[in-house]
Amino acid sequence: GQFDLVIHNGLVVVGSDVMPPSTYIGVKGGIIEQISATPLTGKKIIDAEGGYIMPGGIDSHVHLSQKNTPAGDTFESGTRSALPGGTTTVIPFAIQNSKDDFDLVSAVEEYHTQAKNKSYCDYGFHVIISNPSDELLGTQLPLLAQQHGITSVKVYTTYPRYRLSDEQLLDILLSNRKLGITTMIHAENADIIDFIGKKLEEKKLTDPFYHSVSRPKVAEDEATYRVISLSKMIDVPILIVHMSSETALATVREAQNNLVPIFAETCPQYLFLTADYLKHQCSHHVHKNDPFEGAKYICSPPLRQSQSELDGVWKAIQNGTVTVFSSDHAPTIYDHPLGKKAGLVNGIPHYKKVPNGLPGIETRMPLLFCKGVETGKITAQRYVELCCSNPAKLYGLEQKGTIAVGKDADFVIWYPKGKMTPFILSNSMLHHGIDYSPFEGVEFTNWPRYTILRGSVVWDRDNDGLLASKITGQYVKRAASSMAGPVGKLSYIFE
Ligand code: URP
Ligand code: ZN
Ligand code: ZN
Ligand code: ZN
Repeated sequence: GQFDLVIHNGLVVVGSDVMPPSTYIGVKGGIIEQISATPLTGKKIIDAEGGYIMPGGIDSHVHLSQKNTPAGDTFESGTRSALPGGTTTVIPFAIQNSKDDFDLVSAVEEYHTQAKNKSYCDYGFHVIISNPSDELLGTQLPLLAQQHGITSVKVYTTYPRYRLSDEQLLDILLSNRKLGITTMIHAENADIIDFIGKKLEEKKLTDPFYHSVSRPKVAEDEATYRVISLSKMIDVPILIVHMSSETALATVREAQNNLVPIFAETCPQYLFLTADYLKHQCSHHVHKNDPFEGAKYICSPPLRQSQSELDGVWKAIQNGTVTVFSSDHAPTIYDHPLGKKAGLVNGIPHYKKVPNGLPGIETRMPLLFCKGVETGKITAQRYVELCCSNPAKLYGLEQKGTIAVGKDADFVIWYPKGKMTPFILSNSMLHHGIDYSPFEGVEFTNWPRYTILRGSVVWDRDNDGLLASKITGQYVKRAASSMAGPVGKLSYIFE
Protein backbone atom coordinates (compact mmCIF):
# COMPACT_ATOMS: atom_id res chain seq x y z
CA GLY A 1 0.00 0.00 0.00
CA GLN A 2 0.79 3.67 0.18
CA PHE A 3 3.54 4.66 2.64
CA ASP A 4 3.45 7.72 4.89
CA LEU A 5 6.96 8.56 3.78
CA VAL A 6 9.33 7.25 1.14
CA ILE A 7 13.02 8.16 1.12
CA HIS A 8 15.12 7.38 -1.93
CA ASN A 9 18.06 8.34 -4.12
CA GLY A 10 20.68 8.41 -1.36
CA LEU A 11 23.53 6.28 -0.07
CA VAL A 12 21.86 4.31 2.71
CA VAL A 13 24.42 3.62 5.43
CA VAL A 14 24.26 1.10 8.23
CA GLY A 15 27.14 -0.03 10.44
CA SER A 16 28.34 -2.65 7.98
CA ASP A 17 27.28 -1.57 4.51
CA VAL A 18 26.25 1.18 2.13
CA MET A 19 23.18 0.45 -0.01
CA PRO A 20 23.00 2.13 -3.46
CA PRO A 21 20.86 5.16 -4.44
CA SER A 22 18.40 2.82 -6.14
CA THR A 23 17.18 1.85 -2.64
CA TYR A 24 13.71 2.96 -1.52
CA ILE A 25 12.80 3.12 2.17
CA GLY A 26 9.08 2.90 2.96
CA VAL A 27 7.86 4.23 6.32
CA LYS A 28 4.46 3.65 7.91
CA GLY A 29 3.28 4.48 11.42
CA GLY A 30 6.74 5.73 12.37
CA ILE A 31 8.37 2.39 11.54
CA ILE A 32 10.51 1.29 8.59
CA GLU A 33 8.17 -1.09 6.83
CA GLN A 34 10.01 -1.87 3.62
CA ILE A 35 13.44 -1.47 2.04
CA SER A 36 13.15 -2.02 -1.67
CA ALA A 37 15.14 -1.94 -4.91
CA THR A 38 12.05 -0.94 -6.87
CA PRO A 39 10.11 2.33 -6.49
CA LEU A 40 7.64 2.75 -3.62
CA THR A 41 4.87 5.33 -3.47
CA GLY A 42 4.12 7.51 -0.48
CA LYS A 43 2.19 10.55 0.75
CA LYS A 44 5.51 12.30 1.21
CA ILE A 45 8.67 11.61 -0.82
CA ILE A 46 12.18 12.72 0.12
CA ASP A 47 14.77 12.68 -2.66
CA ALA A 48 18.21 12.58 -0.99
CA GLU A 49 19.83 13.57 -4.32
CA GLY A 50 22.74 11.21 -3.79
CA GLY A 51 23.59 12.29 -0.22
CA TYR A 52 24.03 9.94 2.69
CA ILE A 53 20.95 8.57 4.46
CA MET A 54 21.88 7.41 7.95
CA PRO A 55 20.07 6.23 11.08
CA GLY A 56 19.18 9.06 13.46
CA GLY A 57 22.04 9.87 15.80
CA ILE A 58 22.15 8.64 19.37
CA ASP A 59 23.91 10.87 21.88
CA SER A 60 24.44 8.54 24.82
CA HIS A 61 26.10 11.10 27.10
CA VAL A 62 24.30 14.38 27.74
CA HIS A 63 23.43 16.34 30.87
CA LEU A 64 19.98 18.00 30.75
CA SER A 65 17.98 19.62 33.56
CA GLN A 66 20.56 18.18 35.93
CA LYS A 67 19.86 19.36 39.46
CA ASN A 68 23.45 20.30 40.19
CA THR A 69 23.73 22.47 37.04
CA PRO A 70 21.40 25.46 37.54
CA ALA A 71 22.61 27.43 34.51
CA GLY A 72 22.59 24.49 32.10
CA ASP A 73 20.24 23.30 29.37
CA THR A 74 16.79 22.02 30.24
CA PHE A 75 15.21 19.05 28.53
CA GLU A 76 13.46 21.51 26.29
CA SER A 77 16.42 23.61 25.19
CA GLY A 78 18.87 20.68 25.06
CA THR A 79 16.70 18.37 22.97
CA ARG A 80 15.66 21.28 20.73
CA SER A 81 19.35 21.50 19.88
CA ALA A 82 19.67 17.75 19.29
CA LEU A 83 17.44 17.51 16.19
CA PRO A 84 19.12 20.14 13.96
CA GLY A 85 22.40 18.32 14.66
CA GLY A 86 21.02 14.98 13.45
CA THR A 87 20.47 13.42 16.89
CA THR A 88 17.08 11.77 17.43
CA THR A 89 17.71 9.99 20.74
CA VAL A 90 19.58 11.17 23.84
CA ILE A 91 20.44 9.50 27.13
CA PRO A 92 20.81 12.09 29.90
CA PHE A 93 21.52 11.35 33.56
CA ALA A 94 19.25 11.18 36.60
CA ILE A 95 21.12 11.82 39.85
CA GLN A 96 20.32 11.58 43.53
CA ASN A 97 19.46 14.86 45.23
CA SER A 98 22.47 14.70 47.53
CA LYS A 99 25.06 12.30 48.79
CA ASP A 100 22.83 11.57 51.82
CA ASP A 101 19.77 10.87 49.71
CA PHE A 102 19.47 7.17 49.09
CA ASP A 103 16.23 7.27 47.14
CA LEU A 104 17.26 6.92 43.54
CA VAL A 105 13.81 5.78 42.41
CA SER A 106 12.19 9.08 43.50
CA ALA A 107 15.01 10.96 41.85
CA VAL A 108 14.28 9.14 38.58
CA GLU A 109 10.56 9.95 38.93
CA GLU A 110 11.47 13.64 39.24
CA TYR A 111 13.53 13.49 36.04
CA HIS A 112 10.62 11.80 34.26
CA THR A 113 8.46 14.78 35.30
CA GLN A 114 11.13 17.19 34.09
CA ALA A 115 11.29 15.53 30.67
CA LYS A 116 7.71 14.49 29.97
CA ASN A 117 6.13 16.54 27.16
CA LYS A 118 9.22 18.73 27.11
CA SER A 119 11.50 16.71 24.88
CA TYR A 120 11.89 17.29 21.15
CA CYS A 121 13.67 13.97 20.64
CA ASP A 122 13.37 10.49 22.14
CA TYR A 123 15.19 9.91 25.40
CA GLY A 124 16.16 7.37 28.04
CA PHE A 125 17.98 7.84 31.33
CA HIS A 126 21.20 6.63 32.90
CA VAL A 127 21.47 6.93 36.67
CA ILE A 128 24.50 8.30 38.49
CA ILE A 129 25.40 6.49 41.70
CA SER A 130 27.29 8.39 44.36
CA ASN A 131 26.40 6.21 47.38
CA PRO A 132 26.02 2.53 46.65
CA SER A 133 23.99 1.27 49.61
CA ASP A 134 22.86 -2.36 49.78
CA GLU A 135 19.28 -1.20 49.39
CA LEU A 136 20.13 0.83 46.32
CA LEU A 137 22.01 -1.98 44.61
CA GLY A 138 19.76 -4.79 45.82
CA THR A 139 16.28 -3.26 45.44
CA GLN A 140 16.28 0.05 43.60
CA LEU A 141 18.53 -0.81 40.65
CA PRO A 142 16.63 -4.02 39.81
CA LEU A 143 13.39 -2.05 39.94
CA LEU A 144 14.79 0.71 37.73
CA ALA A 145 16.08 -1.85 35.24
CA GLN A 146 12.85 -3.85 35.11
CA GLN A 147 10.19 -1.15 35.39
CA HIS A 148 11.92 1.89 33.90
CA GLY A 149 14.22 0.18 31.41
CA ILE A 150 17.28 1.88 32.88
CA THR A 151 20.10 -0.50 32.06
CA SER A 152 23.17 1.66 32.63
CA VAL A 153 24.73 3.54 35.53
CA LYS A 154 27.53 6.09 35.70
CA VAL A 155 30.08 6.12 38.50
CA TYR A 156 33.09 8.31 39.21
CA THR A 157 36.60 7.88 40.54
CA THR A 158 36.84 11.66 40.96
CA TYR A 159 34.96 14.81 42.13
CA PRO A 160 34.53 15.14 45.94
CA ARG A 161 30.79 14.52 45.81
CA TYR A 162 30.89 11.47 43.57
CA ARG A 163 34.20 9.67 43.97
CA LEU A 164 33.98 6.04 44.97
CA SER A 165 36.61 3.76 46.49
CA ASP A 166 37.80 0.73 44.58
CA GLU A 167 35.84 -1.46 46.97
CA GLN A 168 32.64 0.48 46.26
CA LEU A 169 33.32 0.16 42.55
CA LEU A 170 33.74 -3.61 42.93
CA ASP A 171 30.39 -3.80 44.74
CA ILE A 172 28.66 -1.94 41.93
CA LEU A 173 30.39 -3.92 39.19
CA LEU A 174 29.35 -7.21 40.74
CA SER A 175 25.79 -6.02 41.23
CA ASN A 176 25.70 -4.83 37.61
CA ARG A 177 27.06 -8.16 36.39
CA LYS A 178 24.12 -9.89 38.07
CA LEU A 179 21.57 -7.41 36.72
CA GLY A 180 23.01 -7.13 33.19
CA ILE A 181 23.58 -3.39 33.62
CA THR A 182 26.28 -1.47 31.72
CA THR A 183 28.66 0.51 33.96
CA MET A 184 29.95 3.84 32.66
CA ILE A 185 33.04 5.00 34.52
CA HIS A 186 34.59 8.47 34.73
CA ALA A 187 38.25 7.55 35.26
CA GLU A 188 40.62 10.15 36.70
CA ASN A 189 42.83 9.72 39.79
CA ALA A 190 41.29 12.02 42.42
CA ASP A 191 44.31 12.11 44.74
CA ILE A 192 46.65 13.29 41.99
CA ILE A 193 44.16 16.02 41.11
CA ASP A 194 43.76 17.14 44.75
CA PHE A 195 47.52 17.09 45.28
CA ILE A 196 48.33 19.24 42.28
CA GLY A 197 45.36 21.50 43.03
CA LYS A 198 46.82 22.32 46.45
CA LYS A 199 50.22 23.17 44.96
CA LEU A 200 48.60 25.46 42.39
CA GLU A 201 46.55 27.12 45.11
CA GLU A 202 49.70 27.83 47.19
CA LYS A 203 51.28 29.49 44.16
CA LYS A 204 47.99 31.34 43.40
CA LEU A 205 47.84 29.75 39.97
CA THR A 206 44.09 29.62 39.53
CA ASP A 207 43.41 30.96 36.02
CA PRO A 208 41.21 28.72 33.83
CA PHE A 209 44.32 27.29 32.14
CA TYR A 210 45.45 25.69 35.42
CA HIS A 211 42.38 23.49 35.32
CA SER A 212 44.20 21.48 32.66
CA VAL A 213 47.43 21.45 34.68
CA SER A 214 45.54 20.16 37.73
CA ARG A 215 44.15 17.15 35.87
CA PRO A 216 47.16 15.71 34.06
CA LYS A 217 46.96 12.94 31.53
CA VAL A 218 48.66 10.55 33.95
CA ALA A 219 45.62 10.87 36.26
CA GLU A 220 43.45 9.50 33.45
CA ASP A 221 46.02 6.89 32.46
CA GLU A 222 46.30 5.49 36.00
CA ALA A 223 42.56 5.45 36.68
CA THR A 224 41.87 3.84 33.29
CA TYR A 225 44.32 1.02 34.01
CA ARG A 226 42.79 0.61 37.47
CA VAL A 227 39.14 0.45 36.41
CA ILE A 228 40.01 -1.99 33.63
CA SER A 229 41.66 -4.14 36.30
CA LEU A 230 38.51 -3.96 38.44
CA SER A 231 36.40 -4.90 35.43
CA LYS A 232 38.63 -7.91 34.69
CA MET A 233 38.40 -8.95 38.33
CA ILE A 234 34.61 -9.04 38.22
CA ASP A 235 34.38 -10.17 34.58
CA VAL A 236 31.88 -7.50 33.61
CA PRO A 237 31.85 -4.98 30.73
CA ILE A 238 32.54 -1.30 31.39
CA LEU A 239 32.38 1.79 29.20
CA ILE A 240 35.03 4.35 30.03
CA VAL A 241 33.48 7.73 29.31
CA HIS A 242 34.99 10.82 27.66
CA MET A 243 38.47 9.43 27.02
CA SER A 244 41.09 12.02 26.13
CA SER A 245 44.43 10.23 26.44
CA GLU A 246 46.19 8.22 23.76
CA THR A 247 47.96 6.21 26.48
CA ALA A 248 44.71 5.33 28.24
CA LEU A 249 43.17 4.37 24.89
CA ALA A 250 46.15 2.08 24.22
CA THR A 251 45.39 0.37 27.54
CA VAL A 252 41.80 -0.12 26.42
CA ARG A 253 43.01 -1.56 23.12
CA GLU A 254 45.27 -4.03 24.86
CA ALA A 255 42.35 -5.23 27.00
CA GLN A 256 40.14 -5.51 23.89
CA ASN A 257 42.90 -7.54 22.18
CA ASN A 258 42.64 -9.97 25.10
CA LEU A 259 38.87 -10.17 24.64
CA VAL A 260 38.12 -8.25 27.83
CA PRO A 261 34.85 -6.35 27.19
CA ILE A 262 36.14 -2.81 27.68
CA PHE A 263 34.29 -0.12 25.73
CA ALA A 264 35.50 3.42 25.18
CA GLU A 265 33.77 6.72 24.55
CA THR A 266 35.31 9.92 23.28
CA CYS A 267 33.84 13.32 22.46
CA PRO A 268 34.40 16.12 19.90
CA GLN A 269 36.39 18.29 22.33
CA TYR A 270 39.12 15.64 22.53
CA LEU A 271 39.47 15.54 18.74
CA PHE A 272 39.27 19.22 17.95
CA LEU A 273 40.41 21.42 20.87
CA THR A 274 43.72 21.75 22.71
CA ALA A 275 44.37 23.30 26.15
CA ASP A 276 45.51 26.41 24.32
CA TYR A 277 41.84 27.48 24.33
CA LEU A 278 41.98 27.75 28.13
CA LYS A 279 44.62 30.47 27.97
CA HIS A 280 43.61 34.08 27.80
CA GLN A 281 46.56 35.08 25.67
CA CYS A 282 46.08 33.11 22.52
CA SER A 283 45.39 33.75 18.93
CA HIS A 284 41.87 32.35 18.46
CA HIS A 285 39.32 34.85 17.36
CA VAL A 286 36.98 33.66 20.13
CA HIS A 287 39.17 35.22 22.82
CA LYS A 288 38.91 38.95 22.49
CA ASN A 289 39.27 41.21 25.48
CA ASP A 290 37.90 39.02 28.23
CA PRO A 291 40.71 37.31 30.15
CA PHE A 292 38.27 34.84 31.75
CA GLU A 293 37.00 33.40 28.47
CA GLY A 294 39.16 30.32 28.88
CA ALA A 295 36.52 29.18 31.40
CA LYS A 296 34.28 28.36 28.46
CA TYR A 297 36.63 25.45 27.73
CA ILE A 298 36.78 23.93 31.23
CA CYS A 299 35.72 20.31 31.13
CA SER A 300 36.91 17.10 32.74
CA PRO A 301 39.04 15.36 31.62
CA PRO A 302 40.54 18.63 30.40
CA LEU A 303 41.50 19.57 26.87
CA ARG A 304 44.96 18.13 26.29
CA GLN A 305 48.14 20.07 25.63
CA SER A 306 49.19 19.17 22.12
CA GLN A 307 47.89 18.37 18.67
CA SER A 308 49.79 15.06 18.78
CA GLU A 309 47.63 13.97 21.73
CA LEU A 310 44.53 14.78 19.68
CA ASP A 311 45.97 12.79 16.79
CA GLY A 312 46.25 9.84 19.19
CA VAL A 313 42.53 10.05 19.97
CA TRP A 314 41.79 10.23 16.22
CA LYS A 315 43.75 7.01 15.74
CA ALA A 316 41.54 5.29 18.30
CA ILE A 317 38.50 6.55 16.37
CA GLN A 318 39.95 5.11 13.17
CA ASN A 319 41.28 1.77 14.43
CA GLY A 320 38.12 0.68 16.23
CA THR A 321 39.21 1.18 19.87
CA VAL A 322 36.56 3.83 20.47
CA THR A 323 33.10 2.30 20.73
CA VAL A 324 30.84 5.35 20.94
CA PHE A 325 31.16 9.03 20.06
CA SER A 326 29.08 11.21 22.39
CA SER A 327 28.96 14.93 23.07
CA ASP A 328 29.13 14.94 26.90
CA HIS A 329 26.90 18.00 26.43
CA ALA A 330 27.37 19.39 29.97
CA PRO A 331 26.72 23.05 29.32
CA THR A 332 26.51 26.08 31.53
CA ILE A 333 25.86 29.60 30.40
CA TYR A 334 29.06 31.67 30.41
CA ASP A 335 27.65 35.04 31.42
CA HIS A 336 25.56 33.95 34.41
CA PRO A 337 26.34 34.13 38.15
CA LEU A 338 25.69 30.38 38.51
CA GLY A 339 27.30 29.57 35.17
CA LYS A 340 30.95 29.73 34.13
CA LYS A 341 31.21 33.19 35.76
CA ALA A 342 30.75 31.52 39.16
CA GLY A 343 34.49 30.98 38.83
CA LEU A 344 35.15 34.70 39.02
CA VAL A 345 34.98 35.74 42.70
CA ASN A 346 35.46 39.49 43.26
CA GLY A 347 37.17 39.59 39.89
CA ILE A 348 39.64 36.84 40.82
CA PRO A 349 39.42 33.73 38.64
CA HIS A 350 39.43 30.29 40.21
CA TYR A 351 39.19 27.30 37.92
CA LYS A 352 37.87 25.09 40.75
CA LYS A 353 34.73 27.23 41.05
CA VAL A 354 33.91 27.00 37.35
CA PRO A 355 31.18 24.43 36.53
CA ASN A 356 32.75 21.71 34.38
CA GLY A 357 31.61 20.82 30.92
CA LEU A 358 30.99 22.08 27.38
CA PRO A 359 27.92 22.36 25.17
CA GLY A 360 28.02 20.21 22.04
CA ILE A 361 24.81 18.27 21.45
CA GLU A 362 24.14 19.99 18.09
CA THR A 363 27.70 20.05 16.74
CA ARG A 364 28.69 16.44 17.56
CA MET A 365 27.42 14.73 14.40
CA PRO A 366 28.31 17.52 11.91
CA LEU A 367 31.86 17.83 13.29
CA LEU A 368 32.68 14.15 12.88
CA PHE A 369 30.89 14.00 9.54
CA CYS A 370 32.78 16.98 8.06
CA LYS A 371 36.18 16.31 9.62
CA GLY A 372 35.99 12.50 9.57
CA VAL A 373 33.81 11.22 6.71
CA GLU A 374 34.23 14.05 4.21
CA THR A 375 38.01 14.15 4.72
CA GLY A 376 38.24 10.39 4.23
CA LYS A 377 39.62 9.74 7.72
CA ILE A 378 36.81 7.29 8.49
CA THR A 379 34.25 5.50 6.38
CA ALA A 380 30.58 6.37 6.50
CA GLN A 381 29.94 2.93 8.03
CA ARG A 382 32.42 3.54 10.86
CA TYR A 383 30.73 6.90 11.42
CA VAL A 384 27.34 5.21 11.79
CA GLU A 385 28.84 2.66 14.16
CA LEU A 386 30.24 5.41 16.42
CA CYS A 387 27.28 7.80 16.36
CA CYS A 388 24.29 5.48 15.96
CA SER A 389 24.57 1.69 16.01
CA ASN A 390 27.12 1.06 18.76
CA PRO A 391 25.35 3.33 21.27
CA ALA A 392 22.08 1.53 20.41
CA LYS A 393 23.66 -1.88 21.06
CA LEU A 394 25.64 -0.92 24.13
CA TYR A 395 22.67 0.74 25.82
CA GLY A 396 19.94 -1.62 24.67
CA LEU A 397 18.01 0.79 22.39
CA GLU A 398 16.47 -2.06 20.43
CA GLN A 399 14.37 0.07 18.04
CA LYS A 400 17.17 2.51 17.23
CA GLY A 401 20.58 2.89 15.60
CA THR A 402 20.13 1.14 12.27
CA ILE A 403 18.06 1.17 9.07
CA ALA A 404 16.19 -2.11 8.95
CA VAL A 405 12.62 -3.30 8.58
CA GLY A 406 10.74 -3.02 11.88
CA LYS A 407 13.02 -0.37 13.40
CA ASP A 408 11.98 3.19 14.26
CA ALA A 409 12.06 5.46 11.20
CA ASP A 410 14.72 7.83 12.59
CA PHE A 411 17.06 9.27 9.97
CA VAL A 412 19.60 11.96 9.29
CA ILE A 413 20.08 12.91 5.64
CA TRP A 414 23.16 14.88 4.58
CA TYR A 415 23.79 17.09 1.57
CA PRO A 416 25.55 15.42 -1.35
CA LYS A 417 29.23 16.34 -1.04
CA GLY A 418 29.86 19.90 -2.24
CA LYS A 419 26.16 20.78 -2.50
CA MET A 420 25.93 22.85 0.69
CA THR A 421 27.62 26.24 0.85
CA PRO A 422 30.27 25.94 3.60
CA PHE A 423 29.83 28.25 6.59
CA ILE A 424 31.66 29.35 9.72
CA LEU A 425 29.75 28.42 12.87
CA SER A 426 28.47 31.12 15.18
CA ASN A 427 26.46 30.47 18.32
CA SER A 428 23.38 32.20 16.96
CA MET A 429 22.95 29.33 14.47
CA LEU A 430 22.51 26.80 17.28
CA HIS A 431 19.31 25.91 19.15
CA HIS A 432 20.57 25.31 22.70
CA GLY A 433 20.04 27.66 25.64
CA ILE A 434 23.72 28.48 26.06
CA ASP A 435 25.44 31.77 25.17
CA TYR A 436 28.46 30.23 23.42
CA SER A 437 29.75 27.20 21.57
CA PRO A 438 33.34 25.97 21.91
CA PHE A 439 33.20 25.29 18.17
CA GLU A 440 32.40 28.83 17.05
CA GLY A 441 34.75 29.71 14.23
CA VAL A 442 34.92 26.17 12.82
CA GLU A 443 34.10 25.77 9.14
CA PHE A 444 31.42 23.22 8.25
CA THR A 445 31.22 21.72 4.77
CA ASN A 446 28.03 19.78 5.53
CA TRP A 447 25.19 19.74 8.04
CA PRO A 448 22.06 17.62 8.49
CA ARG A 449 19.73 18.56 5.68
CA TYR A 450 16.80 16.60 7.10
CA THR A 451 16.31 14.95 10.46
CA ILE A 452 13.43 12.50 10.73
CA LEU A 453 12.02 11.19 14.02
CA ARG A 454 9.73 8.16 13.84
CA GLY A 455 8.68 9.06 10.30
CA SER A 456 8.15 12.80 10.84
CA VAL A 457 10.44 15.37 9.30
CA VAL A 458 11.51 17.37 12.36
CA TRP A 459 14.32 19.42 10.76
CA ASP A 460 14.36 20.70 7.19
CA ARG A 461 17.34 23.01 6.86
CA ASP A 462 16.46 24.50 3.46
CA ASN A 463 12.83 25.24 4.18
CA ASP A 464 11.38 25.75 7.62
CA GLY A 465 14.25 24.67 9.86
CA LEU A 466 13.02 23.11 13.08
CA LEU A 467 9.55 21.61 12.61
CA ALA A 468 9.26 19.45 15.69
CA SER A 469 7.02 20.05 18.62
CA LYS A 470 8.58 19.45 22.02
CA ILE A 471 5.84 17.08 23.06
CA THR A 472 6.68 14.48 20.42
CA GLY A 473 9.83 13.10 22.06
CA GLN A 474 9.10 9.82 23.81
CA TYR A 475 10.69 8.04 26.72
CA VAL A 476 12.43 4.85 25.63
CA LYS A 477 12.71 1.84 27.92
CA ARG A 478 15.97 0.09 27.26
CA ALA A 479 16.97 -3.56 27.21
CA ALA A 480 20.30 -4.95 28.37
CA SER A 481 23.39 -4.39 26.22
CA SER A 482 23.75 -6.70 23.24
CA MET A 483 27.51 -6.19 23.09
CA ALA A 484 30.03 -8.59 24.68
CA GLY A 485 29.24 -9.46 28.30
CA PRO A 486 30.58 -11.59 31.18
CA VAL A 487 31.79 -15.09 30.37
CA GLY A 488 30.98 -16.30 33.89
CA LYS A 489 34.42 -16.27 35.54
CA LEU A 490 34.56 -17.02 39.27
CA SER A 491 30.84 -17.77 39.28
CA TYR A 492 31.32 -20.05 42.30
CA ILE A 493 32.08 -17.02 44.47
CA PHE A 494 30.14 -14.33 42.60
CA GLU A 495 26.76 -15.99 42.09
O1 URP B 1 33.38 18.26 32.50
C1 URP B 1 32.48 17.47 32.39
N1 URP B 1 32.55 16.48 31.55
N2 URP B 1 31.39 17.62 33.15
C2 URP B 1 30.26 16.83 33.08
C3 URP B 1 30.24 15.78 34.09
C4 URP B 1 31.01 14.60 33.66
O2 URP B 1 31.96 14.26 34.32
O3 URP B 1 30.66 13.98 32.64
ZN1 ZN C 1 32.38 12.40 33.62
ZN1 ZN D 1 42.04 31.22 22.02
ZN1 ZN E 1 29.34 13.94 31.35
